Amino acid sequence: MPITTQQIMEWKHQERAIVALTAWDFALGQVLDEAGVDLILIGDSLAMVALGYDTTLPVTLDEMLLHAKAVRRGVKRALLVCDLPFMSYQESVQQAVHSAGRLLKEAGVQAVKLEGGNPTAVATVARLVEVGIPVMGHVGLTPQSVHRLGYRQQGTSLAARERILSEAIALEQAGAFAIVLEHIPSSLACQITQKLTIPTIGIGAGPDVDGQVLVTSDLLGLSTRQPPFAKSYVNLREIITQAVRSFSSEVKERKFPVD
Ligand code: KIV
Repeated sequence: MPITTQQIMEWKHQERAIVALTAWDFALGQVLDEAGVDLILIGDSLAMVALGYDTTLPVTLDEMLLHAKAVRRGVKRALLVCDLPFMSYQESVQQAVHSAGRLLKEAGVQAVKLEGGNPTAVATVARLVEVGIPVMGHVGLTPQSVHRLGYRQQGTSLAARERILSEAIALEQAGAFAIVLEHIPSSLACQITQKLTIPTIGIGAGPDVDGQVLVTSDLLGLSTRQPPFAKSYVNLREIITQAVRSFSSEVKERKFPVD
């Protein structure tokens, strides 16, 4: 049975931890889905990990659509969520509805994610939910604001803690079904998780959240640089290099293919 946003919300109340990862193509989507990941995010981090940009800002809605369609073809069970990329929703609520609508209609994702919890973002979430588009919020470090905030941990002062907490509450009230908490102190993530009735999915937010997400290239050891809170479970860059070197030597020594 495909996982729904309702299921994700129920798991918070059952204290069942939510497992989320990012994907950017068919093969990765299929592997993550078959490995039992609950929520697969076509994150705009693909701008950096799949397209080689320095930030997430350059990726366009059309590029996100291309990747989302490929992942969709590989995913049968996990809840599929796609990021609204930079400048595909900030201009107006109408622009957000149009962009999110395309992701649901053309790529078949079940929900979208957008960054920020200011009053404009909250109004956008409310309108998307009103037209039937489930939304995942994202507060704390929001990479689309890198030129304003950098990649620093957020919520370190009392004022910033209070702002992030009220943004999370406002996003829940606007109808978000879940919320990503990125690179904030674990005590703040814990406070938000206790306060909200929707699940919190942490990345660099400590253990006291309802689920965890990682950028999959960090988990696999494919990234050339990764944030301090990421964990690699395998060094795929090294494994791929060894495999390519083996192939290369066998070709040069005329050992592959065998007759
Ligand atoms: O784009 C992305 O990969 C994300 C994760 C950091 C959650 O938004």
